[in-house]
Amino acid sequence: MIVESKLFTLKDGRSCLLRSARIGDADNLIAFMVLAAAESPYLISYPDEISVNAEFEGALIERISQSADEMLLIAEYGGRLAGFATTMKRTSRRKVRHRIEMGITVKKSLWGKGIGRQLIQTIIEASRAGGLEQIELGVFAGNERARRLYEAMGFVETGFTPNAAKLDDGTVLGEYRMMRTLTE
Ligand SMILES: CC(C)(COP(=O)(O)OP(=O)(O)OC[C@H]1O[C@@H](n2cnc3c(N)ncnc32)[C@H](O)[C@@H]1OP(=O)(O)O)[C@@H](O)C(=O)NCCC(=O)NCCS
Repeated sequence: MIVESKLFTLKDGRSCLLRSARIGDADNLIAFMVLAAAESPYLISYPDEISVNAEFEGALIERISQSADEMLLIAEYGGRLAGFATTMKRTSRRKVRHRIEMGITVKKSLWGKGIGRQLIQTIIEASRAGGLEQIELGVFAGNERARRLYEAMGFVETGFTPNAAKLDDGTVLGEYRMMRTLTE
């Protein structure tokens, strides 16, 4: 799905561009994912596990662009990649085609400016327009910043998986499941 580009004014008064990813973003996105994985313990990957190449990422962007309801949305701040959010189907089966799974990451130095909020708001609006009925996600226990943002955007907790992540330092994290209804 291609989302119409939008300019937002953030809390610091500067503008941020939200747009759908293009194939030419592949290299920047991969570098960003490696950086983000190093900046937060609450993402699923460690930096050394991000092994996709530009060809693979480009093909993913192309597939998502042509999808009726999946999205790869980029935030640009000062002309550089500041964050991104994805929505993807776990399966294309008809029984679950009203649901989509969301992921989001913003560069640490830019946290708290409202970029995450704008990405999620755009995803909510575009997903609803695309006929979806609910956005779902998982958030590791302890990720209070993300959890509070999701709650502020209308997500509610639907479950908890103990023992969901085991960090290299031995820390064990549970995972909350959350959902945002789009039909109300
Ligand atoms: C979670 C994340 C996407 C939020 O992005 P962001 O651009 O900082 O989000 P925003 O600035 O729009 O909103 C931040 C919200 O966090 C909350 N928040 C801010 N500071 C906080 C703090 N110290 N503790 C808890 N919550 C806090 C507030 O609800 C705030 O919203 P508000 O200021 O509008 O009330 C970003 O922190 C991130 O990429 N984290 C690492 C990766 C990650 O955890 N991704 C989600 C995996 S489930």
